[in-house]
Formats: sequence, structure tokens, C-alpha cells
Amino acid sequence: MNTQLLFDTAKNLLADGKGLLAMDESNPTCNKRFAKQGIPQTEAARREYRELIVTTPGLGESIGGAILYDETIRQKKRDGTPFVKVLQDAGIIPGIKVDVGAKDLAGYPGEKITEGLDGLRERLQAYFQMGARFAKWRAVIQVGHGIPSRGCINANAHALARYAALCQEAGMVPIVEPEVLMDGEHNMERCREVTEELLRTVFHHLSAQRVLLEGMLLKANMVLPGSACSQQASLEEVADATVHCFLRTVPAAVPGIAFLSGGQPGLSASARLNAMNMRFKDRLPWALAFSFARAIQQPAQEIWRGREANVAAAQQALSHRAACNRAARRGEYNEPMETENA
Ligand code: 13P
Repeated sequence: MNTQLLFDTAKNLLADGKGLLAMDESNPTCNKRFAKQGIPQTEAARREYRELIVTTPGLGESIGGAILYDETIRQKKRDGTPFVKVLQDAGIIPGIKVDVGAKDLAGYPGEKITEGLDGLRERLQAYFQMGARFAKWRAVIQVGHGIPSRGCINANAHALARYAALCQEAGMVPIVEPEVLMDGEHNMERCREVTEELLRTVFHHLSAQRVLLEGMLLKANMVLPGSACSQQASLEEVADATVHCFLRTVPAAVPGIAFLSGGQPGLSASARLNAMNMRFKDRLPWALAFSFARAIQQPAQEIWRGREANVAAAQQALSHRAACNRAARRGEYNEPMETENA
């Protein structure tokens, strides 16, 4: 195993206060978001949109790695330049989503298991040849009455660990993403409890599968009240609950934690990440960064709406959200940034 390559990639992905851009929506997810904006749900429109993203001027100043999807990693700019090369030239490391989605978990109504282990070794080798140097696998955990179950947590943690070991064998840094969904009426304490149990189990399985912690990144949810919970939380409460949860569960050898946004409004995601870094920056063993999809892309997609004339404005909006999140990594994000740069 090329451990030096893994360590270097993991470090470089989050170097200089940068974070990750998730642009790995599967075709059905991408189409669903396009439908809301009245954008045609075609391969051509998805390619146009992804070209808009990867050619955003200055994107590499805030983004260290971009997560692609199987369709996207094979796509090219209109002038024939592969997206992978466009990213590399911008100093952005290409990554790839390798799970094939969350399916119903047999025997556990209402719970999901992420699939994609069959043939993964060969797929990883092919993606490495295409230029990917890191990968992502997302497990989804729903909170509700009597769930998540131990059986669901164990099955997903085991799959994440098998995936992570295969990535490292192939020279690719695994982004290990166990996501506790925001959907539901549960309160913040319940989210903390589930997130803690989940992370403990995931690290137990990672160790059992001999995953090198220094050569991986964790992608995690923030500890938040459910989106339908009547009692929402302040910035400080979210920051404290989230950081304390990780301090109890994430080993110091892990170089970084990159948050997913999970449906939070973009400004809230930036403000919460900022509060964590402001309050705890000098006391944390790992970098606290971002790996957002919606919280970076949404304003840009709403501006673009499939029209060539809107590309420059959409790119400006994308670049702005990325820059706000880079500032949040340093604890230097503030509200005036939103109006000054918008
Ligand atoms: P969101 O930031 O939109 O939650 O997406 C992150 C992601 O990559 C989920 O796997």
C-alpha cells in the first residue's frame, strides 16, 4: 500500500484552509434538482452544469478536492478537455463517489443499507487510472421511533470499513461518510446520542478492517435538532454539541472532518462551521472543514436555470459560497461578507 500517497492526499485535500466540493449527485438526484428549476433533465444539461462548476474562475482558492459521479468523471468541456484535467489544472484533486446508493435493509423496515461493495476493487482501479485520488461512500441513518437499530448501524459501519480498506489498497483516500439525516422531529440531544453511537461503531469497524486513520477523512453531519423539531438551537449550541460529540468519538490520528450540509441553508452551514472553528480552533486534533453540495451549489443553480447568459453570475455565486466556507474554516466568516461580496 502506498501510505505516503494516502497521507499526502489526505493532507492536501484540506490544505490552506480549503474544503471539498461535493458535485457527485447521482443522475436521479441531479435531475430532481434540475426539475425544480425548470432545467431539462438530460445528459447534455448535466454536462453543461458541471462544466459551469469546474470552470468557475478562482475555484481552486477555496476548494481542495471535488467529488465527481461516474457520469461526470468521464465528461469533457465543450472544447474537449476532460473535467478531470480542468480540475487538476486548477489545483483541485478529483474524487469519485463509489457507492451505488442506499437500499431498504432487509428485516429492518424504515432503515437503509448502502450498497456497492461487489466489484469495488476493480472499479477503484479504473477510477485511479482516470485520475481520481480519493473516493466517497455515504451511509444514511434515519432517526425515528425505535430507529436507528443496532443492526442497521452495524451493517452500515461494516460496509463503510470494507469500502475504506479497498480504497486505501487502491491508493485512494476514503471519505467515510456516515450521515444522520436531519429529517424528523427529534431534538438535538437525540441527534447527538445517535451520532455518537454511530461514530463509535464506525471507528470500531475501521480499526477491525485495518484502515489507516491518517489516510482517511471523515465526512459527518453536524449535531442538529431534526428539521421538524419545535425547539431549534443557537449557533453556539450547535457548535458545542457537535465538537464535544467528535472529541468523544473521532481519534486524533484522523487528519480532518469535513461536514456535509444535509439540507441546511447555505448561510447557516457557513455560520455553524465558523462558530465551531472560532470557539475551538486551537483545541482540536483534526481540521474542521466542509464538503458541501447543496450549501455551495444551490444559489448558483437557481441563477443558472439552464441559460448560457446566466453562467458568469452563477459562477460568481458558487465562488462566493466557497469563499465564505473557506473563511468559516478559519473562524473569520461574518454576515457582512454576504453583502460585500455578493
Ligand atoms: P449536502 O451538502 O447537500 O448534504 O451533500 C453532501 C454530500 O455529498 C452527501 O453525500
